[in-house]
Amino acid sequence: MKQIVLRAYPQGAPRAEDFAVETLAIPEPSAGEVLLKTYWLSLDPLIRFALDEQRLTGRAQVRPGEVVYGGAVSRVEASNAAGWTVGDWVEGRIGWREYAAIDPQLVPLRKLDCQAAPPSAALGLLGMPGQTAHACMIEIGRVKAGETVVISAAAGAVGSIAGQIGKILGARVIGIAGGEAKCRAVEALGFDACVDYKSPDFPQKLKAHCDGGIDVYIENVGGPVTDAVLPLLKYQARMPVCGFIAYYGIGLEGPGPDRLPGFMRTIMSKGLEVRGFGGALTAGPEALEDLAGWYREGRIKLTEAVVEGLEQAPAAFAGIFSGNSHVGKLVVRVADDQ
Ligand SMILES: NC(=O)c1ccc[n+]([C@@H]2O[C@H](COP(=O)([O-])OP(=O)(O)OC[C@H]3O[C@@H](n4cnc5c(N)ncnc54)[C@H](OP(=O)(O)O)[C@@H]3O)[C@@H](O)[C@H]2O)c1
Repeated sequence: MKQIVLRAYPQGAPRAEDFAVETLAIPEPSAGEVLLKTYWLSLDPLIRFALDEQRLTGRAQVRPGEVVYGGAVSRVEASNAAGWTVGDWVEGRIGWREYAAIDPQLVPLRKLDCQAAPPSAALGLLGMPGQTAHACMIEIGRVKAGETVVISAAAGAVGSIAGQIGKILGARVIGIAGGEAKCRAVEALGFDACVDYKSPDFPQKLKAHCDGGIDVYIENVGGPVTDAVLPLLKYQARMPVCGFIAYYGIGLEGPGPDRLPGFMRTIMSKGLEVRGFGGALTAGPEALEDLAGWYREGRIKLTEAVVEGLEQAPAAFAGIFSGNSHVGKLVVRVADDQ
């Protein structure tokens, strides 16, 4: 079997060379363990948090030589654990490897119903990113019909689902994404418009779409995108801080001047509600029921970008931070599930 380990802590944006492929024997499950075969891997920006030498955010930490941490969908191949049967489909933080012997008491696994949706959906729409999008729009953002919502990283897993939830709630939804092709793909999901943050007149274009001001800004990014959004926020706008990908890998302070004074002034003078959260914890299993219902009814699309083969995971992961052409949830097909 193959697995991907961390070769060296990434400095700034991760590169494919920060990882290495290892070949080893398929493990034997011990008492209390299941042997899992991986079919799908989830590539998430949050994995970057686990790759810092000094832990800044999150609980997981991967050291050089260790298997990269990450969500996966697998099937039970052998079981020495009560309650787990050969053939069960499961999702959990199984890591970037083709097989894993895991004690489900130590690594929580979720059993999947693969009749309702394909197995990979458990990593996107019907998993953590779906729950996070639900939390952005419902629990934290409290989006109402008629409101104007702006979503950054709109072509990503969370943003693409959040925008579709916004339309179900009756809001006007404006996405922000990198490049014209991504923006058109976002609009094809039902967003009212999507603005390319890489175009030179991005702030003016965004303003033109948000004439009456923004009620809710779903923050996934930071940097110049946020600079363009802040002046357009209405008084008492809500700003769920889901992520800040432009700052991953720059530590706690970053290289620039201290911009906090201006941000504090904006928060106070606009009465902003800025609220961070963990999506899966905030939205819980009920969110998955909502999402599964909307999917069944054809009100929300399952949008995935598929990369073929475990060995491609490092380059595809690096691409999240350096510009890619993917729209929807980025997954790696490790084995054919048909
Ligand atoms: N709070 C939580 O529980 C939680 C859970 C899941 C995700 N998140 C966060 O939510 C955000 C989106 O996650 P996701 O799963 O949707 O990720 P994703 O599917 O990998 O999409 C991320 C997108 O971010 C954009 N991006 C990358 N660097 C950027 C930059 N410097 N400036 C502007 N855009 C940039 C890229 O799109 P472009 O090509 O358009 O630039 C990329 O496609 C991330 O910040 C992530 O960490 C939070």
